[in-house]
Amino acid sequence: MSRGSRGRRIALAAGALLAAGSVAATDAPAPAYAEGAKAFQANCAVCHGAAGAGIPSLAPPLLSYPARYAASAEGRRQLAMTVLNGLYGEITVEGKHYDFRMPSFSTLDDATLAAVLNFVVFDLAHAAGDTKPLTGEEIAAERAHPLDGAAVREHRKSLVPAGD
Ligand code: HEC
Repeated sequence: MSRGSRGRRIALAAGALLAAGSVAATDAPAPAYAEGAKAFQANCAVCHGAAGAGIPSLAPPLLSYPARYAASAEGRRQLAMTVLNGLYGEITVEGKHYDFRMPSFSTLDDATLAAVLNFVVFDLAHAAGDTKPLTGEEIAAERAHPLDGAAVREHRKSLVPAGD
């Protein structure tokens, strides 16, 4: 199967789940990052779910690792490079395996990508209060070094030890 058709299959499966109503909209309180929340619902929820819980064996949950990433410089780079370049290859998230392809969102501007990541880090993953919000400058710095999705996975290995 080509990589492209695999991506389409994910989108189709995600759409089917949404249509079936199994990815419920969150009834959480108003998000701290409202612009980021809007961009998340428009661009990310189809795969990761409206509340970021993911879709089993298709797209991982975004409810814990993003907070951990945001606490270190290399982790913050990882978040930025994931949305800019996508992510491809086998990964383990909260003990479960995923092996699909996340597309690139480099068509979104730096401020929007920072906002969507802040929604993920703070509203979905509940990062600790002393975590600094991501900035458009951090996104721009990463945009200057385009990678492919497999290289983004390689960088991730230094942050999430195998089997974690
Ligand atoms: C077409 C489906 C799809 C869309 C849309 C999508 N993702 Fe993903 N995302 C994935 C998949 C699949 C993975 C895991 C890739 C793998 O298996 O290597 C992933 C991985 C991630 C990760 C890495 C998690 C980790 O533990 O390292 C983050 C962060 C993320 N996505 C955020 C987002 C954000 C933010 C958006 C919207 C701007 C988005 N995703 C849109 C499918 C998608």
